[in-house]
Amino acid sequence: DKAGYPHFMLKEINEQGSVLRRALFGRTASDLIDLSGEWGITPEKAKTFKRMDLVACGTSFYAATVAQRVLEKYLKVDIRVDIASEYRYRPLRAGGDTIAVFVSQSGETLDTLEALRHVKELGAYTVAATNAPNSSIAREVDDVIRLNAGIEIGVAATKTFTAQMAVLILAGLYLAKLRGELPGADEKRLAEAMKDLPYKVEQTLLLKDVVRSLARKFGAARDFLFLGRGVSYPVAMEGALKLKEISYVHAEAYAAGEMKHGPIALLDEELPVVVVAPADELLEKTLSNVEETRARKAPVIIVTTENVPDVNDVSGTIKVPMTEAELTPFLTVLPLQIFAYESALLRGCDIDQPRNLAKSVTVE
Ligand code: F6R
Repeated sequence: DKAGYPHFMLKEINEQGSVLRRALFGRTASDLIDLSGEWGITPEKAKTFKRMDLVACGTSFYAATVAQRVLEKYLKVDIRVDIASEYRYRPLRAGGDTIAVFVSQSGETLDTLEALRHVKELGAYTVAATNAPNSSIAREVDDVIRLNAGIEIGVAATKTFTAQMAVLILAGLYLAKLRGELPGADEKRLAEAMKDLPYKVEQTLLLKDVVRSLARKFGAARDFLFLGRGVSYPVAMEGALKLKEISYVHAEAYAAGEMKHGPIALLDEELPVVVVAPADELLEKTLSNVEETRARKAPVIIVTTENVPDVNDVSGTIKVPMTEAELTPFLTVLPLQIFAYESALLRGCDIDQPRNLAKSVTVE
């Protein structure tokens, strides 16, 4: 049931406030991060890890990459993130000191399942973050952390991306806490900020008209470049993927600092560049990439936070509410989802069933 929306994707985009409330429910009581109700891992076990591997495909891989960028500040283990179809064939040095986390909305992605089997054989402790607690991946791991996002029908993942980021960050912070690595002040700061996110998500979704008019402005563009640094780099990748898969427009994401190492040659007035640049310690660096882009006449759309002053001579600015720097992906991704949706709508694409794609990829 589309609940009055023209597409499941739009319904699912708009559900993200309540999806986050559910993902946080019972995990952030009174400003503490506590998953003990569902995750029986002991502090002794948590302290044995030296390595964490986050493994997934597609949008789930980008959610895992956001989590990696956030958690490496707190969790004192070597945190790696990999694409399942690469990981499963690599000669891993993982073993009993490894916690391997498999991120899969459907729990049925074959490459992710095979990656799980590969590292399990080496003795790793395995966890699934999934929306499907009875799935193949959920059955084979040591522990499951549920997304509780509700069924997602649109082929393009939206609300499960949000739920994945939330549970991965919560689970990783909880692990850091069990290991004695999470300062109480950070736990409180992040738990409080996460509890404010559902409302801020709803505020951000109100920007839909601004985003729609930008999608119209660039309705004839054939290529887009997406840029971001740090936590915003995987957000840029997710924005580019959404645009490709539902509107069939070519979009490529780059770490903003890599632009001068090649893609800068592409820039001209025909190539719109979407820059994800919220207020964080990397903002100034990203704004210098905006300067380089403008100097080559490429139109720029900036996705930033409300506290960042306007940048001159850009084609569009989208300002999301302020939050902790680590948590900006929960807000900056939303205009990118809406941008992809509006672009696909303009182009008359089949939004909920894009060509050549299936909701669950059970082939290699
Ligand atoms: C993109 C999309 C895919 C999936 C990928 C992994 O919108 O839906 O990229 O994210 O196929 O699927 P799961 O998470 O089910 O393993």
